[in-house]
Amino acid sequence: MGIQIAPSILSADFADLDAEIGRLGDADLVHVDVMDNHFVPNLTIGLPVVEAILARTDRRVDCHLMIEDPDRWAPGYAEAGAYNVTFHAEAARAPVRLARELRRLGARAGVGLRPATPVEPFEVLLPEIDMLLVMTVEPGFGGQSFLDVCLPKIRRAREMVSRSGLDVWVQVDGGISTETIERCAEAGADVFVAGSAVYGAEDAAGAVEQLRALAIRHA
Ligand code: DX5
Ligand code: ZN
Repeated sequence: MGIQIAPSILSADFADLDAEIGRLGDADLVHVDVMDNHFVPNLTIGLPVVEAILARTDRRVDCHLMIEDPDRWAPGYAEAGAYNVTFHAEAARAPVRLARELRRLGARAGVGLRPATPVEPFEVLLPEIDMLLVMTVEPGFGGQSFLDVCLPKIRRAREMVSRSGLDVWVQVDGGISTETIERCAEAGADVFVAGSAVYGAEDAAGAVEQLRALAIRHA
């Protein structure tokens, strides 16, 4: 698939999501952060708002579920028509069963890892998933500084995926900007979430293309 840019609407104007999603130009995915104030200390939106977004846009919606008990809640997002549903490894009770369920419902399945969660134990999961999300900040808020201690983990994730011969995307999320995207691309990430770097720019579509160009040059 190559390099993909996934703007996060966490930094958008929540009162005007339709227009905010319309500003994204040629972005590949729209990244939607679902937080439950239990898995992370913040509360955002849930399934009804995601359904409303899906009803208004033809874009591919990438749901990042920062919630407890994804085994119970994640399938609803796949049923609603999300293109990708990522649940957190730290929260899932039965990740293989859940990933299979998401795929059965027609979504891609992603597994997210907090910065301190090692990637190696998830090698066995690779045949069951479509994307590994390596968080590059502690999940919960937009606008945080990139944690460069995560770079070796991105590299190990890419090596694991290459060894497997499977087409599993490696996504990075948190503090991705023109300052940090090159290092992530060099380390092997291919899907880049950016919230404040896109919505903080006057020209959001231009910011997407600027990020894409930097990532392509360093992939
Ligand atoms: C944080 C979210 C991110 C967030 C990224 O927990 O998962 O998707 O929107 O925001 P920036 O790009 O501003 O770090
Ligand atoms: Zn996210």
